[in-house]
Amino acid sequence: MTAPSLADSDPEVAGLVEAERLRQARTISLVASENFASRAVREAAGSVLTNKYAQGYPGARHYPDCGAVDAVEEAARTRARSLFRADHANVQPSSGALANVAVYQALLRPGESVLAMDPAVGGHETHGDPHHASGKYHRFSFYGVDASGRINLAEVRRRARAVRPRMIIAGGCLYPRSTPVGEFVGIAREAGSLLMVDMAHFAGFVAAGLHENPCPVADVVTSTTHKTLRGPRGGLILCRSAHAAAVDAGVFPGTHGGPLMHIVAAKAVAFAEAATSVFCAYQERVIANARALCEALASRGLPSVTGGTDTHMVVVDLRTRGVRGDTVEAALSRAGILSNACPVPGDPKPKDGTSGLRLGTPSVTTRGMGAEQMRRLASFVASVVEAPGDGALLERLRGEVQELAEAFPPPD
Ligand SMILES: Cc1ncc(COP(=O)(O)O)c(C=O)c1O
Repeated sequence: MTAPSLADSDPEVAGLVEAERLRQARTISLVASENFASRAVREAAGSVLTNKYAQGYPGARHYPDCGAVDAVEEAARTRARSLFRADHANVQPSSGALANVAVYQALLRPGESVLAMDPAVGGHETHGDPHHASGKYHRFSFYGVDASGRINLAEVRRRARAVRPRMIIAGGCLYPRSTPVGEFVGIAREAGSLLMVDMAHFAGFVAAGLHENPCPVADVVTSTTHKTLRGPRGGLILCRSAHAAAVDAGVFPGTHGGPLMHIVAAKAVAFAEAATSVFCAYQERVIANARALCEALASRGLPSVTGGTDTHMVVVDLRTRGVRGDTVEAALSRAGILSNACPVPGDPKPKDGTSGLRLGTPSVTTRGMGAEQMRRLASFVASVVEAPGDGALLERLRGEVQELAEAFPPPD
């Protein structure tokens, strides 16, 4: 007798899953951190590996009969090392946030100092936000961006010389340009600091050879696996051999228990996918689409921070338009386009609403959209910026957005 399906055993949850599938198919996500994982990745993530406890590491588990999951984790580690040219990979972190926490646990003592990007201009919460464990247990100071929105390397150098932090962090969640890895390496060396690069947003480009690879030159590199990398939701740590034992201990027992072996398997699948020429061509299109979107927005009077993009991300500066980012995000959402309100450098209103809008092209590119569709999306965004309160406009756009979405369905 076959077991009952999800729909038979739990119609409520099955109905919600179906509602989410339909939502994804009928709307367009310009959220820079979202993507569509392949069927193979989702199959591994939904596999019987979820049943297996495997606390520990391959060959040294705290549970019996781990032969198959040992081989899965070995495959994931080997593929990650080869993809990113790293000495060592830990594929167990359950998320990008926990990958970062595990690194702090591994390489920092409580109270040690860290220099990271200011959260007000795009540093991630796990890089020293006072509400996050990192900000509670370590002494963070911050660097920002210059008037054009580029990382202010002179300020990074000045602060590094003054503070001599134990660790410097490069990488954030709101930076549309390539991260100047080489410059950070020089600054960290001069200050005697460890360098951690959080490549959560640009890992896909590193895998495709389209962004400087931090792995051979940084002490430790963290990432998510679900953004540009297009794998399952999860985290990843890559590091030099010298830090391997500390990093592994920082993950388990430092911050994690039993690894999610079904997700580790899905990461292995995603790393193999990312090593293909098809994936490299995909990443080239992600960047080309972001540039097309950026140019089309500029032609509609919507400039972006730094005046362009090298990545999947466009940060629209709304300051001259008299409209808040959160207002535009909500109106776009009513029209079926998903985005994120965000601050812009020098934002005059970070408290009562932000002045920027973060857009990204990973998921529309996975759907097969190209420059023509980017121009269309830019025109939708521009119309909404002009009249975010116009209910009839948003209703009409919702129909057009759904038509466009259905012409480019997500992968099966
Ligand atoms: C730079 C950066 N680091 C870490 C994270 C955290 O990843 P997760 O949401 O998987 O915890 C994010 C997520 O947005 C991020 O942008």
